[in-house]
Amino acid sequence: MVTLRGPELVAGGVVVSERWRPLDVADVDPDPFVQFAAWWSEGSPEMFEPQSIVLATADDEGQPHARYVLLRHVDTTSFGFYTNYDSQKGRDLHVNPRAALLWYCEPLGRQVRIEGGVSVMSEQASDEYFASRPRGHQIGAWASAQSQLLPSRADLEARTQEIATRFEGRPIARPERWGGYRLVPARFEFWQHRQDRLHDRVVYVSVRGEWRTQRLSP
Ligand SMILES: Cc1cc2nc3c(=O)[nH]c(=O)nc-3n(C[C@H](O)[C@H](O)[C@H](O)COP(=O)(O)O)c2cc1C
Repeated sequence: MVTLRGPELVAGGVVVSERWRPLDVADVDPDPFVQFAAWWSEGSPEMFEPQSIVLATADDEGQPHARYVLLRHVDTTSFGFYTNYDSQKGRDLHVNPRAALLWYCEPLGRQVRIEGGVSVMSEQASDEYFASRPRGHQIGAWASAQSQLLPSRADLEARTQEIATRFEGRPIARPERWGGYRLVPARFEFWQHRQDRLHDRVVYVSVRGEWRTQRLSP
C-alpha cells in the first residue's frame, strides 16, 4: 500500500493557509442556496472546471454509483444537470429518485454535500437547454447509447457520422431519452478545511419547509 500525501504549506513549522477561513453556524446565510452561491462566487474563479460535481445514485439493490456530471443550473430551490435517461444514473433515478451531489472546491479547501429528491425536468426546459448546446454535442447525444456496451470506437464514430448525415442542414431535435433532472435538496453540508483535521462542518436540514442549521464534529 502506498501512502499518498498532499502538499502542505508550512511556515515556522506550522501548517498554515490563508485560504482556510473559519465557518460557524453564526456566519452562514439562513438560506443554503444563498450560502452555496457565496461559496460558488468565491471559489469558482479559482477552479478549472467548477461546474464538475459528483452525482451519487443507488440502484434497486442499494448499490451506490458515483460519477461526475456538470452542474448546469442552480435556482432558489433546485440543482439541475443533464444526461441520458437510460444511462446507469437514469435507471437508478427511475427506481430510486433520490441522489447526492458533492462539490469540492480545492483552492479554498471546501466541500459541499447536497442530498434530496430528484425529478425529471420539464420537456420544455430540456428542449431549451439541448437547443443551446453546440451541434457536435447534440449529435453526440443521439449517437451514444450511454452506459450500454459498445463493441468498438469505430461503431461510435460510424453512428456519429450517420446522425450527422441524417440531420444535415437542419436543426437537431432533442432525443426523447436525453434531458435534465432537478435535485431538490432536503439537506446540505458546508465543510471548511481547518488545521489539524479540526475542520468546520455546518449542516442545513429542511424541517417542514424551514432550514435549520447545526454544527457537526469533524
Ligand atoms: C468532469 C465531468 C463532467 C461530466 N459531465 C457529464 C454530464 O453532465 N452528463 C453526463 O451524462 N455525463 C457526464 N460525464 C460523464 C459521467 O461521469 C459518466 O461517465 C456518464 O454519465 C455515464 O455514467 P453512468 O453510467 O453512471 O450513468 C462527465 C464526466 C466528467 C469527468
